[in-house]
Amino acid sequence: MKIVRLSEPSLGALERRYIEECIDSGQLTAGGPFGARLEEIVARHLGLQPALVVATTSGTSALTLALLELGVGPEDEVVVPQLSYVAPANAAACLGARLLFAAVEPETGLICAAELASLLEDRVRHRDRPPKAVIGVDLLGRVASWSSLLDITDRHGCALVEDACEALGATGENDLPAGRWGHISCLSFNGTKTVTGGAGGAIRLPDRAAANRTRMRANHGRRPGRDFVHERIGDNCRISNLHAAIATAQMERLGELVAGRRRGELQYRKALEQHRLPLAWLGVPPDTLHLDWLPPCLASDLDTRERVLDALGGEGVEARPFFEPLHRLPPFTTCPRGSTEAAEDLASRGFLLPSSSDMSDHQIESIVQILSRCFP
Ligand SMILES: Cc1ncc(COP(=O)(O)O)c(C=O)c1O
Repeated sequence: MKIVRLSEPSLGALERRYIEECIDSGQLTAGGPFGARLEEIVARHLGLQPALVVATTSGTSALTLALLELGVGPEDEVVVPQLSYVAPANAAACLGARLLFAAVEPETGLICAAELASLLEDRVRHRDRPPKAVIGVDLLGRVASWSSLLDITDRHGCALVEDACEALGATGENDLPAGRWGHISCLSFNGTKTVTGGAGGAIRLPDRAAANRTRMRANHGRRPGRDFVHERIGDNCRISNLHAAIATAQMERLGELVAGRRRGELQYRKALEQHRLPLAWLGVPPDTLHLDWLPPCLASDLDTRERVLDALGGEGVEARPFFEPLHRLPPFTTCPRGSTEAAEDLASRGFLLPSSSDMSDHQIESIVQILSRCFP
């Protein structure tokens, strides 16, 4: 079988046309028309005014801008779930913040509301002030129970950021889309995501003033206009016209891209059931509609997971283990954390199957055949 990558982009005539428009216009860099078009279409998807969305160079820069807007700096505490891609932890650590790792739910791997409440109570008791921010993550396209999380963070006076980088196209409670929760939310358009620009991201702010500050920070703090007047400290976080062109085409095809991933997920689920394989799926919170960006499977134990990954890798199928729990990564081993049982259990048994919007039935069937040979 031809090599199957973990997540291949679905690129077609529209992406090609917008790239050509970019080249023909001579504007590849930031500040071109596609940045504004991308902001508009992301905002429309979220049901918001375009002025509240700022397109960025990456999901990580969106997270950094979110923390800067919340005033996070050295000595502030920021809470991140134990099970996540490393970006939210790195965004906070790079600003000098102290990390606290919150326990996750054993079924979904999402930040656990009850554990978060006791972690915040504990910090207020010991430190006299709450952490500055909690970054919740919509892990692997599962949208967290944001209304409960918001109740808890509001009660303790701490800000809540939604990291929806893995969940564009999924829906949370009350039919609100991923990327619309928390005080601020962040999206990624990196190369493996359901919607990609090759690179890129977006941040959604609560009001125009916050969005204007963020827009300035993302452009080295420069005041809008002709002059090089930099009113505040900032960074270069604006998406290029070229990346925005691709991401705009992809956003215009969002329905199709989401449908493609869902079709793949359904086929995986049916086939695993048909073959009666001893594998489970990572759970989904009630009243939400997940989107399997990368279908997350659970083996019975670590040895079985490794056997499955070896078998898939041996046949050219790029599957991956779940993320390493963040508190186990070398820079973070001394950070305080809640109970680590659920994160460590999921991380030891979990693996991600390849997915893309254009994956063929034949590719999925071949992958399932490899899986079934692991369980003779
Ligand atoms: C949960 C999560 N947060 C943040 C990011 C960072 O996004 P980017 O790669 O666009 O910086 C990613 C993925 O890459 C992610 O999976």
